[in-house]
Amino acid sequence: MRGLRLVAGVGLALLVGCALLTMSGTAAPRAGDSRTLLWPARVVEWAAAAFTADYLNRIESDMHSGRIIIGQQPPAQAAQAQPAGGTLAPGDLLVREVALISHGGPVEAPEGIVYSTQPRTALDLDGNHYVTKGTGDVGMVVAELVGYKLAELLKIPVPGFGVGRFGADGEPLFVSEMVGDAQRDVAPWLKKKLVTNGDAVLRLLALDVWIANNDRNMGGLLGRPVQSEPGKIEIVAIDFEKAQVVRHDTPLVGIPLMNPKAFWPTGTLGKLCREVLNLDVGIVTEFAGFTDGQVGQVVDSCVAAVGDGFTRRDSVCFTLRKRLAKLTDLVKEAWA
Ligand SMILES: Nc1ncnc2c1ncn2[C@@H]1O[C@H](COP(=O)(O)OP(=O)(O)OP(=O)(O)O)[C@@H](O)[C@H]1O
Ligand SMILES: [Mg+2]
Repeated sequence: MRGLRLVAGVGLALLVGCALLTMSGTAAPRAGDSRTLLWPARVVEWAAAAFTADYLNRIESDMHSGRIIIGQQPPAQAAQAQPAGGTLAPGDLLVREVALISHGGPVEAPEGIVYSTQPRTALDLDGNHYVTKGTGDVGMVVAELVGYKLAELLKIPVPGFGVGRFGADGEPLFVSEMVGDAQRDVAPWLKKKLVTNGDAVLRLLALDVWIANNDRNMGGLLGRPVQSEPGKIEIVAIDFEKAQVVRHDTPLVGIPLMNPKAFWPTGTLGKLCREVLNLDVGIVTEFAGFTDGQVGQVVDSCVAAVGDGFTRRDSVCFTLRKRLAKLTDLVKEAWA
């Protein structure tokens, strides 16, 4: 008799559990979701979903924006909060495709300098010249694209860029339009304060910290003459391929183990920036306009542009969002 009661009790408990699961559904919590889930259903739901990186991203971003609210409605203003940076137009996310038709030679380096990625030149059908990078290394292509795209959105001048291929099935290469009349050593202009867009340089320094680029040096800046102000130059940024948010296998764990000062420019450029520029962490507020969703959109457009060869999209988004949330402190650490 006692055995019968036990079996009946277990059966009843199972039935109630199934009913609760059915009532609650199995989707992970979303922004503004105020369903009150009973704990067995919530535990099962979370256990099932917690294995997906995407779910972790969503939880993490919801927590940042204060959207995870258990047992109460989200405050009205939080639900309606608008990104300071406005919305991205579809054109903002475009990554150009360039049909390359002929290889040029290697980019020539000044004496004593060897470029680590062996950049080359190439031509498209219309005779435009490009610098190409990333042969056999799709991660390098994505890193350059993410750096260039974020720079473009932050109004940091960069050469026209995109993904180039020799033939429709050719491997994706990162291409940047050759800036023909560029100064390759901008140190004299920086020293004499003959740079018209110092604010863009500050934003570039903060961008390098955000994407954890540990390779900013004088070679990563070009100087374009400013027609209306003879003798002055405008800084144009290149070279984001070492962005650790993309290049590191486990960026979330790996980057915090790196020296924060590694994301400050090295050598003469680092010294000059400290001397000539004033730290203004106010620039970081301009970065705050990026919502979690926009960060995802930017990364997705860059990843999609290389085909299906890059598989770490989630960890890139997650790390970018996390670093953006504390960018002011990270910039201060790099500058110190
Ligand atoms: N779009 C461009 N227009 C003009 N010059 C360029 C362009 N892209 C690259 N260069 C030139 O090529 C050089 C090497 O390019 P880049 O810095 O991207 O290569 P790298 O292998 O990453 O170099 P490093 O080893 O210094 O990191 C630059 O310093 C610059 O002089
Ligand atoms: Mg480089």
